[in-house]
Amino acid sequence: MSAKKPVLEFRKVDKSFGHIDALNDISIKVVEGEVLCLLGDNGAGKSTLIKTLSGVYQPTRGEILMDGQPALFSSPREAQERGIATVHQFGGTYPLMSIGRNFFMGSEPTRGWGPFKYFDRKTANRVAVAEVQKMGITRITDGDRLVGGLSGGERQSLAIARAVYFGARVLILDEPTAALGVKQAAHVLRIVNEAKRRGLAVIFITHQVMHAMAVGDHFAVLIRGAIAADFRKGQKTREQIADLMAGGESIASLEASIEGYRDTHDGLPPPPAH
Ligand SMILES: Nc1ncnc2c1ncn2[C@@H]1O[C@H](COP(=O)(O)OP(=O)(O)O)[C@@H](O)[C@H]1O
Ligand SMILES: [Mg+2]
Repeated sequence: MSAKKPVLEFRKVDKSFGHIDALNDISIKVVEGEVLCLLGDNGAGKSTLIKTLSGVYQPTRGEILMDGQPALFSSPREAQERGIATVHQFGGTYPLMSIGRNFFMGSEPTRGWGPFKYFDRKTANRVAVAEVQKMGITRITDGDRLVGGLSGGERQSLAIARAVYFGARVLILDEPTAALGVKQAAHVLRIVNEAKRRGLAVIFITHQVMHAMAVGDHFAVLIRGAIAADFRKGQKTREQIADLMAGGESIASLEASIEGYRDTHDGLPPPPAH
């Protein structure tokens, strides 16, 4: 179907915590230049799946392959060094530091040598602003600005631009749009598309079917730790996806109240129940 290569692959992966089976026989591929949307209700196993992909947990059974070769990530750092970047809901940025500092956190460009070495603020700012702008966020023009002053969407964008710049091959986004307003979410969705265009393999976790449909090439629905459905763009309607996420039950009966909610909330669907 597609000549694009899988970067990461799960083969029959199980993950148990004591007697809780959080993941059960998961086989899935993450392909370069594609967005895999991971859908499912709270407790379905989405976070466990990405934590197992990114070295936080090791599988109880089964295999992880990277570029077709068996891979074992014994720590998040090891996965990161292999190009697996995770961006969390609030971007993982430091609010009291500048954009330039945040961008280069841990790998700051320096000038001088030995005791005369100092953080090269100008270079850091110039590169950070240029990279964020390349991702389509043109409102960021001053690398000295504190990250705390950015909107949630801008912070996410900064974190994504940084991952792309440092050579990430797999970008994992855990509910990036959950806490954002409509415009901010649109920014993040645009950046996800940009990361994909640059050939990254993206895993996008969301509760919001419309957000998934805006970026997803491939969809996997988790129910109680197992893949209940696995399909590609265009193969299911919004209603079918929403039903699957609700555990296979029809949510047609909820539609009326959802529509009522939309009328008073800028057309947004209700937030997921917690
Ligand atoms: N560290 C852990 N120890 C024990 N149980 C866990 C742990 N992490 C997750 N679980 C359990 O595994 C299941 C899946 O959780 P999670 O992956 O967080 O779901 P999701 O991200 O889809 O909401 C839940 O039943 C949760 O309670
Ligand atoms: Mg989760």
